[in-house]
Amino acid sequence: LSKIEIKLSEIPEGKNMTFKWRGKPLFVRHRTEKEIATEEAVNIGELRDPQHDKDRVINPRWVIVLGVCTHLGCVPISNAGEFGGYYCPCHGSHYDASGRIRKGPAPLNLEVPYYEFPDDDTVIVG
Ligand code: FES
Repeated sequence: LSKIEIKLSEIPEGKNMTFKWRGKPLFVRHRTEKEIATEEAVNIGELRDPQHDKDRVINPRWVIVLGVCTHLGCVPISNAGEFGGYYCPCHGSHYDASGRIRKGPAPLNLEVPYYEFPDDDTVIVG
């Protein structure tokens, strides 16, 4: 299937859930207020792949990214690593809770796929 529909009410605040989409892992993360505030405050001048959090989300509560490390494609672990977002154990890449690369060998942020919110409880990715 080229599109996937996900019910947001099934993902508790603070949790990241993994889905399978087009043969790849897809992360849907329900961020806390603290995570949102932290990521919005990051100075993008310090980033390897400079992107403001606002340019990576439609609704700051929800981060939707491919669960594919931009180094060599392993699946990162959620809520791990030095920046509280994702950690790739293959070679030690640390991503923040916006999916941006912060430390380690990966060159780019986790990819944000095309998605939309047809209503408050639903996201359609693809
Ligand atoms: Fe993720 Fe190498 S594949 S750090």
